[in-house]
Amino acid sequence: MTAIDEIAPDLFRLSLYVPEIDMQFNHFLVRDEEPLLFHAGLKGMFPALKEAVGQLIDPATLRHIAWSHFESDEIGGLNEWLKIAPHAQPVCTALGKMVSVDDFASRPAFGMTNDDLLTTGKYRFRFTQTPHIPHGWDAGVFFEESRKTLFCSDLFHHFGNVDAVTSSDLVGPSHAAMEKMQQGPLAGYIPYTRQTEGVLNSLAELEPETLAVMHGSSYTGQSAPLLRDLAAVLQQTFDRGPAES
Ligand SMILES: [Fe+2]
Ligand SMILES: [Fe+2]
Repeated sequence: MTAIDEIAPDLFRLSLYVPEIDMQFNHFLVRDEEPLLFHAGLKGMFPALKEAVGQLIDPATLRHIAWSHFESDEIGGLNEWLKIAPHAQPVCTALGKMVSVDDFASRPAFGMTNDDLLTTGKYRFRFTQTPHIPHGWDAGVFFEESRKTLFCSDLFHHFGNVDAVTSSDLVGPSHAAMEKMQQGPLAGYIPYTRQTEGVLNSLAELEPETLAVMHGSSYTGQSAPLLRDLAAVLQQTFDRGPAES
């Protein structure tokens, strides 16, 4: 069962909750002249997602399928979408296109570099490369400029079958989720590098008013302080050796 919520005008959050891991997988559909889906989703979730997208638009009219980094929950269902949407184009980092996507995908991707712009009609998506943030050499984020929405992938991930949107703090739940993940087989899933703080501060300077979060609630409100605080929490959690964890 996919929960569908319009979290801002023309911005729909399509959420599937997996109770076994107490985690939501969220996908975002932007309804515009050229509809855009952010996160193709897991291949196994494609039938449910297709049905959910079909409640909002004709899935065959999808034009852009974008994501942050090459990983199954971001891109696993991509080729299924490309089959049913003949004019849809994969959109990712130029680096991701080069090293993985054009081999994996049934159609070539549009590869973006820093500050490139993708326009879908009313909405404008500015791209920022964020290598290794949240993880993956090819990672990047999209910022929709007119509504100030940051599509931030795994940043601010947290557990639970939570509300679609919150204005409460996301840093605390994210920190708790990181500490929990660090105790399990996925430990070390976010590298902390010399660039981490600077990249998050540069995202804060965009002054997002919505954070579209892949796992957990999206956030509405002034998001810059959360991004700055997240940098400190990432350092606290990941900038330490195994003996210290
Ligand atoms: Fe990821
Ligand atoms: Fe994810």
